[in-house]
Amino acid sequence: MAKMDYPGLLSTLSQAASSPSIQTGLTRTEQQNLYQACAKLSACVETPQDRLLKGSFDFILPTILRLAIDIGIFTLFNEDDSVQEFDVSEIATRTKTDQVLIYRIMRFLITFDMFDVTPEGRCKANTFTKSFRSGTGAYDTVILLSGLTLPVFSRLPAYFQKTGNTLPENAKMGLFQDAHDTDLPVYDWLNHRKAERDAFHQVMAASESLNDSVWAHYLPQNWFLDKFASGSSDVTLVDVGGNSGKVLNAFLHRLPTPQARLILQDIPDVIQGEYKDVPLCRTHENASQIEKMGHSFFDPQPVHGASLYVLSRVIHNWPDKEALIILQHIQAAMNDQSTLLICDCVFSDQLGKVPYTDATSDMIMMAVFSSLERSEGHFRSLLESVGLELQKVWRDPLNGTLLTVLEVVRKKQLA
Ligand SMILES: C[S@@+](CC[C@H](N)C(=O)[O-])C[C@H]1O[C@@H](n2cnc3c(N)ncnc32)[C@H](O)[C@@H]1O
Repeated sequence: MAKMDYPGLLSTLSQAASSPSIQTGLTRTEQQNLYQACAKLSACVETPQDRLLKGSFDFILPTILRLAIDIGIFTLFNEDDSVQEFDVSEIATRTKTDQVLIYRIMRFLITFDMFDVTPEGRCKANTFTKSFRSGTGAYDTVILLSGLTLPVFSRLPAYFQKTGNTLPENAKMGLFQDAHDTDLPVYDWLNHRKAERDAFHQVMAASESLNDSVWAHYLPQNWFLDKFASGSSDVTLVDVGGNSGKVLNAFLHRLPTPQARLILQDIPDVIQGEYKDVPLCRTHENASQIEKMGHSFFDPQPVHGASLYVLSRVIHNWPDKEALIILQHIQAAMNDQSTLLICDCVFSDQLGKVPYTDATSDMIMMAVFSSLERSEGHFRSLLESVGLELQKVWRDPLNGTLLTVLEVVRKKQLA
């Protein structure tokens, strides 16, 4: 193999990095492609030590951003659409905050290009500042990380010491409850924390992973057409724990079916969309075709014999005990023509075959929900124990294991 031209590569990269116009004129996709190529290159050359040191202080940014949000710094800079600039002392006065604290926060955030500085030393809003508001993925992720997730992870070593390294498996008594001093499961706790609750639902509604991918890349259109041709049910699809109706919406985009009866279920608070400013249950342009039903999946499923039941990103939030109850209720409502589609992260049973993002998601499930991302084998045995059968595993080769679709039917009764 030819030896790499090390000096040439270094010079090309240095030149590109020092070009002031490297992002000028690029579309968002081009910018993202370039960013991903740089990330890949970094990953090729960094050592585990480099990676550790690079990521070790990452938690500080969301916490300082949350502080800046709570103090009202972003509100001040976004009071109107004009470009805003302020001296540190003005920010301090207008937010009624210690000037030295403001100075230190601004100095930190400026290093991340989240504000600009004028030649006179005034802090000036830039495109990041102007775009950083509720309803955008970045803002809501900061609220969730700082208010919900980071306190749990900071408690993790102490929790395991206290419990003698016992795996959290109880939805009402795990690391999350220990860190937040509560005995409520996460979704009940969220109901008492407006900022985090709204952020959670915004993040769910905004997450792109389900937009069209499930329907377009996993299951072929013909699969649905065959399924509906063979069924006799008047209900086409029940989206259980469906949140804002994203999955149903993507389904309708992919398969405009004017006759279909589509049901969106979630807990009543979510379904009634009482969360102000959160685009819950708006279900976009197809709203009129989607029936909304307040229903807890821990109660018997009221819709019987639907062609399809969907559980998208639901089961991974629950330990086996609760997962089995959810599955049992759906099994009891299915008939021999019904199919259950479970969209979740489904790991390979082989160690070393799981990408970083999925392994991270598993850690979040353990810490926050006392649950886990399951392997195919684990799913298979859960399903079997409640009279269900895994018929096919649909994977998107471009999407790792993060979202896999499990096609599940009722186990045939022996005559
Ligand atoms: C991680 S979100 C997934 C939402 C959606 N299926 C998706 O893929 O975007 C989990 C959903 O389960 C809902 N949920 C939590 N507890 C529930 C319950 N007891 N009954 C019904 N839905 C519930 C939450 O409100 C939330 O919308």
